Amino acid sequence: MLRMSTPNLCGGLHCWAPWLSSGILCLCLIFLLGQVGLLQGHPQCLDYGPPFQPLLHLEFCSDYESFGCCDQHKDRRIAARYWDIMEYFDLKRHELCGDYIKDILCQECSPYAAHLYDAENPQTPLRNLPGLCSDYCSVFHSNCHSAISLLTNDRGLQESHGMDGVRFCHLLDLSDKDYCFPNVLRNNYLNRNLGMVAQDPRGCLQLCLSEVANGLRNPVSMVHAGDGTHRFFVAEQVGVVWVYLPDGSRLEQPFLDLKNIVLTTPWIGDERGFLGLAFHPKFRHNRKFYIYYSCLDKKKVEKIRISQMKVSRADPNKADLKSERVILEIEEPASNHNGGQLLFGLDGYMYIFTGDGGQAGDPFGLFGNAQNKSSLLGKVLRIDVNRAGSDGKRYRVPSDNPFVSEPGAHPAIYAYGIRNMWRCAVDRGDPITHQGRGRIFCGDVGQNRFEEVDLIVKGGNYGWRAKEGFACYDKKLCHNASLDDVLPIYAYGHAVGKSVTGGYVYRGCESPNLNGLYIFGDFMSGKIEKPRNGRSGIFAWAALRPVPSQG
Ligand SMILES: *[C@@H]1O[C@H](CO)[C@@H](O)[C@H](O)[C@H]1NC(C)=O
Ligand SMILES: *[C@@H]1O[C@H](CO)[C@@H](O)[C@H](O)[C@H]1NC(C)=O
Repeated sequence: MLRMSTPNLCGGLHCWAPWLSSGILCLCLIFLLGQVGLLQGHPQCLDYGPPFQPLLHLEFCSDYESFGCCDQHKDRRIAARYWDIMEYFDLKRHELCGDYIKDILCQECSPYAAHLYDAENPQTPLRNLPGLCSDYCSVFHSNCHSAISLLTNDRGLQESHGMDGVRFCHLLDLSDKDYCFPNVLRNNYLNRNLGMVAQDPRGCLQLCLSEVANGLRNPVSMVHAGDGTHRFFVAEQVGVVWVYLPDGSRLEQPFLDLKNIVLTTPWIGDERGFLGLAFHPKFRHNRKFYIYYSCLDKKKVEKIRISQMKVSRADPNKADLKSERVILEIEEPASNHNGGQLLFGLDGYMYIFTGDGGQAGDPFGLFGNAQNKSSLLGKVLRIDVNRAGSDGKRYRVPSDNPFVSEPGAHPAIYAYGIRNMWRCAVDRGDPITHQGRGRIFCGDVGQNRFEEVDLIVKGGNYGWRAKEGFACYDKKLCHNASLDDVLPIYAYGHAVGKSVTGGYVYRGCESPNLNGLYIFGDFMSGKIEKPRNGRSGIFAWAALRPVPSQG
């Protein structure tokens, strides 16, 4: 098990890669989206290097002190040039034009300098004045046109200064208006992720990984109890849960050992087993936690079972084996695609993520299980585990579940059209603004072509088996006007990875650069990706999934 963080700030997020045995590793992130994708919204300096945080305070271009393309040396050079120009100015012109000249000169320090000066387009020469937005440019021109010959030795620009400004500003126009100054500073898309990731001199992203545990057999879940003890509970697919203390040591005796009732085999590719663990939000007071595992019932029928258990009164590091209360059992028609996530939403309800029942292409029934709202397979379920329901059920269906009044639909269904959501997580929200709080992110494993990441919404249809990622899978269902599906927030093809694991939105305090990034794994690829909008990334920690589940 490894711990991941940005350089110099090792700590924070926990990930697993048990085949890497020790020490701190630094991985170079591989940009997979290619040049074209990255050029949009891609900060870069005039020397084509990545922008950076200057080591020393910038006296002059102080707007770019926290992130940009100038060190103190360059800043001083720009300041000297500014004062050279001001020599020619009387007080009145200084007042009128000083700020414009300063702003324009300081664009060399902008994290988007390469765009502002057209350095990225090999077909056009490097500009010696940055691209200016037309409103700004015409005000500048009307106030300060006599300064133009001091700012540039470009003949074309110098000669145009006597005219009405239209030609001058046309010459300073950028074909991509997003990048012109000062719009580039106001564009949220271009600015929100600035300075969020560290890069080495070659533009590579780096992360530190340090081992926090080893000797585990297919660890599939790592959770804390939310009780302030800072213990970690790590579940193995075979049905054993271990306690790790805050000092990193593991208790000798397992917290829970269900090896005898959990259904799995030692064969590679068995997707059954102990698949999920979640502590009750009020665990500290009620000692309850919930487990999700494969089992055989008395008639030898394969099922997934969701149960409630309690921690022993006598020993907080031991589950009370006699406390198990089965909450829900769902028959599994095939041994693959068993889902496995349990979590509590901010609403206090328990969310259960099931697979489509298995085989390939969701073959059961007329149009598969996932689109069939009578089936609990291929669904996100939402139940209230704090109240008993009618007819002896150990849970109640929340009255605002989306399909409670739809004839034939199971009332526990919260969202559908799911193939095999294996890992989902609740966003804790921005530590200061709380933005994003409560969102549920999931990875949904694809069939033969696309892996997807979804944001779960009430009543949402996530498309399977009509669609896989953004593409049609079952053409007839896909073109049915009633499909009305929620598209993934991200999907990638099988050249990138073949089995999405899912992950977490980082909201920790140790690596602020990672705040708001969705960091998730792919079981098969072994690659790490940072898509162009900077909101998600792929890691490949094989241990996060017991097995691949395509096909
Ligand atoms: C939907 O699922 C239910 C429960 O598994 C099943 O009885 C029914 O036949 C399915 N309907 C269709 C149209 O496949
Ligand atoms: C389209 O979907 C509706 C509702 O699910 C269903 O009644 C209808 O038979 C479907 N049509 C086709 C062509 O599958």
